Amino acid sequence: MRRLKFLLSLGAFALLLSPSSGAPDPLEWPSGDGQKLVKANCLICHSGEIVMGQRLSAENWAKVVEKMAGWGSPIPEKDRAALVEYLSKNFNPETPEPKPIRMSPQD
Ligand code: HEC
Repeated sequence: MRRLKFLLSLGAFALLLSPSSGAPDPLEWPSGDGQKLVKANCLICHSGEIVMGQRLSAENWAKVVEKMAGWGSPIPEKDRAALVEYLSKNFNPETPEPKPIRMSPQD
């Protein structure tokens, strides 16, 4: 019986450690075709905050997207231009600063 409890707690621990990629994305992405592209290709390794927090020109977004593709993002070549357009339209140097991430003990 003790052994079973031990195994169960190990399982719970593994769940805690598992990456959150399957969890619902709490961020509100601006609407547009790029939304699906971001969700499918960019949130596998890191949260969307790292993407939303950037303020880049189209040229620099293109560099980021190429870099991420090189690091393992499955973004297909044919979708990269649309993704760069979406990102640079919504997160460019003119875009107001992102809201600070809200954190409270209740969360
Ligand atoms: C294979 C894993 C992986 C995927 C998929 C991925 N990234 Fe990243 N990304 C990283 C890593 C690793 C970092 C560096 C994280 C750090 O510095 O903490 C990073 C950092 C970033 C940064 C921070 C600035 C920089 O250049 O380092 C941005 C912006 C970014 N990613 C955007 C994207 C976008 C847009 C996509 C989708 C096209 C994407 N990422 C997909 C792994 C990935």
